[in-house]
Amino acid sequence: MNLRLSHWQVLPPIVAFAALFALLMKWRDVLASLGLPPEGRVGMLGRDLVAVLLWFAGAWVVTRLLTIIFWQGIFGQGGRRHVPRLLVDLVAALVYAIAILSLISLWFEFEIATSALTTSGILVAVLGFALRDTIADIFSGITVNLERPYRIGDWIEVTPGGRVGEVVEISWRTTRLVTQDNISIMVPNGLLSRTQFANFSLPERHFREAVRLRLPPALSPERARQVLSNALKGVSGVLQSPPPEVRIVDIERHAVVYEARFWVPDYRQLTQLRDAAITSLLEHLDKAGIALAQERREITVRRAETRMSRHLTPLELLRRIEMFDVLAEEDVAELSRNLVERRFAPGHAVVRSGDPGGSLFVLAEGLLEVEGKSAEGRKVRLARIEPGGVFGEMSLLTGQPRSADVVCLTEALLYEVDGAALGPILQRRPELALLLSAKVARRVGRNEVAATEQPPPATAAGETGLTSQILARLRALFHLDR
Ligand code: CMP
Repeated sequence: MNLRLSHWQVLPPIVAFAALFALLMKWRDVLASLGLPPEGRVGMLGRDLVAVLLWFAGAWVVTRLLTIIFWQGIFGQGGRRHVPRLLVDLVAALVYAIAILSLISLWFEFEIATSALTTSGILVAVLGFALRDTIADIFSGITVNLERPYRIGDWIEVTPGGRVGEVVEISWRTTRLVTQDNISIMVPNGLLSRTQFANFSLPERHFREAVRLRLPPALSPERARQVLSNALKGVSGVLQSPPPEVRIVDIERHAVVYEARFWVPDYRQLTQLRDAAITSLLEHLDKAGIALAQERREITVRRAETRMSRHLTPLELLRRIEMFDVLAEEDVAELSRNLVERRFAPGHAVVRSGDPGGSLFVLAEGLLEVEGKSAEGRKVRLARIEPGGVFGEMSLLTGQPRSADVVCLTEALLYEVDGAALGPILQRRPELALLLSAKVARRVGRNEVAATEQPPPATAAGETGLTSQILARLRALFHLDR
């Protein structure tokens, strides 16, 4: 709670208290000046009323002083520490209750007061029994406010495996959560103080998530770890520090169970990042030619095992890349025969900006980053290249030097094809030339925006025009007649 009372705000209650006190002291004189008898009905009633007001003014002074000196000062450390509103209200209510009880005991004879208290005690007991859950919730609310096991904005799971929601309100009796489906859940504070609950936002907002994958036992754990951790490194939004990790967690008859673990910055992003991580894991596994383990008949298992124990052949890899769908089977076979295998260590630059180009690359395994320079000469990250990604087409198709650095983020397996080997295929299949030109145009457009270090515009205007320009240059370079 933010208590914001300035020191002079203690004055009104003090002035009221002093005025009422003076009035009570001089009551007889006041009555005399009005010509009223001191023991008369009006005089007595008036005096009682001033006395009641005096007690309330006293309680007002005490609560104001408590707020300014204790809640704002000592306990609240001058605004640096959160003061639960519930606690402040409760103490204030207590001060007023003491004032009222004192008034009752002053008004009535002691015995009457005692019997009134006894009666009220019974009443309180009956009420307490009837409202026991509500009272328990209120006291739990106080505990929650003091201990602060969750705060507004935290994501909590009340019952294990149950719904998770963001805390949007903590009141006297309940805590209100809103789930990711935008459903509001009211949880009694008593329940929260009695049961175990998980807070995804404490001790810090980031937490670890895991995806389990059953992979064939024939696959070496080393290769599985490498493919899976490359996949996690490529997911944007997933924290890279602490780094993602892959662990074997179980072994079954037909599978080894791997857990791909990664850190999510905030619970709000969990669904989206889990989806992105699973998509990336499946894509990397697919491009690496690794299928998920299944219970199969013996003969199929053996076939799967032989396939899984090696990388995909260049031909198998090319068949999985959408861009080459426009090629006939014999073109893909010809292209694959001309692919040269290349392996690189993390940190190695496969191509460097300004180098002469003349070949095209296909990434089979690993993760690459394309880096360019901004107008001010600063390094900018242009893109990530995932398995199945094709690059190097820009200089190959336009005859210009390499336009960017392409650096390995992990160990990488690539295939390179020389321009001379690609020429005849492009001549036979102009559709591929068009696809590659469109790719170049898209990338050039994106890089121009990235060089300004501004957010990209909503539409890529001018891309079509650029594609035709590049296509014209490509036709001249490769002597294509169509
Ligand atoms: P090239 O210019 O031959 O060498 C660097 C390569 O990086 C380039 O071809 C493209 O294949 C690739 N590249 C450049 N910019 C991007 C981008 N924005 N997205 C993906 N790849 C790119």
